[in-house]
Amino acid sequence: MPATTPDRPALLTALQGARPARTPVWFMRQAGRSLPEYRAARHGIAMLDACLDPALAAELTLQPVRRHGVDAAVFFSDIVVPVLRAGVGVQIRSGVGPVLDEPVRTAADVAALPTPDPDLGPVVDGVRAAVAELGDTPLLGFAGAPFTLACYLVEGGPSKDHLRTRTLMHADPQAWAGVMAWAADVTGTFLRAQVAAGAAAVQLFDSWAGVLSAADYRAHVAPWSSRALAGLDVPVVHFAAQGGELLAELRDVAAGAVRHAAVGVDHRVPLDEASRRLGGTTPVQGNIDPAMLAAPWEVLAAHVRDVLRRGEAAPGHVVNLGHGVPPNADPDVLTAIVRLVHGEHPQHESG
Ligand code: CP3
Repeated sequence: MPATTPDRPALLTALQGARPARTPVWFMRQAGRSLPEYRAARHGIAMLDACLDPALAAELTLQPVRRHGVDAAVFFSDIVVPVLRAGVGVQIRSGVGPVLDEPVRTAADVAALPTPDPDLGPVVDGVRAAVAELGDTPLLGFAGAPFTLACYLVEGGPSKDHLRTRTLMHADPQAWAGVMAWAADVTGTFLRAQVAAGAAAVQLFDSWAGVLSAADYRAHVAPWSSRALAGLDVPVVHFAAQGGELLAELRDVAAGAVRHAAVGVDHRVPLDEASRRLGGTTPVQGNIDPAMLAAPWEVLAAHVRDVLRRGEAAPGHVVNLGHGVPPNADPDVLTAIVRLVHGEHPQHESG
């Protein structure tokens, strides 16, 4: 059992596979359009410009911590920030997502990628500013996993099936290795920069890995995600949306790279079943169904209690949603979930 001290942040205790006095909770995409103060601060500023303004990024990181009392801040940035800072043209279109100036689809496109050496000065300054203001609340850094970045690079934008990406994986192994090595190095540099600037843990988002079979994941993706995590000395949460068939693979990648590996679980697999698939020794994060946020409070509260109960099957549990906060979520509902998880005032006053 890892040693725990009473003043150790609950997030870190849970990620080490132990049970803190109260279960920690944060929300993927907790900084964002669900918050009126976010919409006011972002007004007229493009997403990637906001990410590269250290003072603004720090402020947007802190907003949900102040409002909800969550157990972690997540650094306000985006998975494509290191891609942009390495010199690849990309924008984030509101309501769409990242869109590349030029997709990377052939061996020649891969060869023409710039050196995977992003200039992350503004990210480092933003993390430092956030950490300085956070006090005892840990800052979680994050990055996109190489496969998820490759999906944007190859498709050129959001896609449903990622067919071009999956075809490239099998049709041209050398071009595939080139694009994955590039993405691993860019995203690994982004993670290490956040940790060096004070992030206490990181989450690797493989948002689209759920489209892969476990065999393809192991052969064509896992080695590159391992490369992205190499050399980190903080706990890692490894998450794939729709990743229920990949839980053991996600664990193996993170556990092969760092001492404390946890797995993020989306809402499709109950946490007791997820913990069984993980062999019962890996901390889990999740998995409130984002759709429940708009359900009547008693329905949502029963679901949250069920998530807490099933999470007891794992050695450590960090409560989160199964995927990001929807932009139209009621922020008061998120605050009420935090109170319920912390065992305070479990009633949400609605309407
Ligand atoms: O609070 C947090 O979680 C921290 C910030 C964060 C953002 N993006 C800010 C953001 C994090 C962790 C991300 C990660 C991210 N970005 C992922 C992985 C997580 C996941 O959802 O699976 C992915 C796939 C992206 C790419 C991306 N960026 C998408 C699909 C979008 C949404 C586009 C839209 O408008 O619907 C973005 C933009 C984005 N990233 C926003 C935020 C707050 C919204 C931009 C805005 O407010 O204008």
